[in-house]
Amino acid sequence: MAGKFITFEGGEGTGKSTQIKLLCNYLEQKGKEVVATKEPGGTEVGLEIRKLLVCGDKDKFDAVAEALLYFADRHIHLSQKVWPALAEEKWVLSDRFADSTVAYQYYGYNKRISREVLEQLYKIAVGDFKPDLTIILDLEPEKGLARSFAKARNMAIKELRFEDRELEFHQNLRRGFGEIATAEPQRCVVLDADKTVEALHADIVRVVSEKFGI
Ligand code: TMP
Repeated sequence: MAGKFITFEGGEGTGKSTQIKLLCNYLEQKGKEVVATKEPGGTEVGLEIRKLLVCGDKDKFDAVAEALLYFADRHIHLSQKVWPALAEEKWVLSDRFADSTVAYQYYGYNKRISREVLEQLYKIAVGDFKPDLTIILDLEPEKGLARSFAKARNMAIKELRFEDRELEFHQNLRRGFGEIATAEPQRCVVLDADKTVEALHADIVRVVSEKFGI
């Protein structure tokens, strides 16, 4: 496919959506057509799935059920939005993708779901497709969660199902993102998100420019 698929990953409150907006502007100034999207909820049906996943009691279902729903959302997202945009040579920036399932449903839950099951689901829902670049924003969970809870105060519907999990869950998933990056250094870059919005944006522009020569 002719376009580029860049995913942003990280724990809660790491600033992904702000950085996606800034990178979107940067790429548009460079003459690219850009689609900014997210998981879960990058499509109309996906928004329904998102509600099931991020609202309500943290224990309403387990990691296996979550993984199935995230991959359902992902398959719809890819087939209805991401793949058609890439085929039209657009650059697609996604706020989360499959690394979040590995980090949250596997590492976050202390590996209570098997890695093989996640790999099988990936094959079914995604096939051999992968992001061209994954930017992992790394931040101490205490700092990220404080940002997330502050943001949620202004939300009519509280999307705090994962934020409500214990600190250990968030520490596990941060370690998980680190392991994902170590296993795939060609695709993944970890950036320190504990800096100003402008400084982090500059780091992201540097990574994107080096990788794609723009
Ligand atoms: P967001 O708040 O970054 O939009 O993401 C929604 C929540 O869903 C967030 O708490 C992370 C979680 N999540 C997973 O647990 N697994 C996944 O595969 C994805 C994409 C998100």
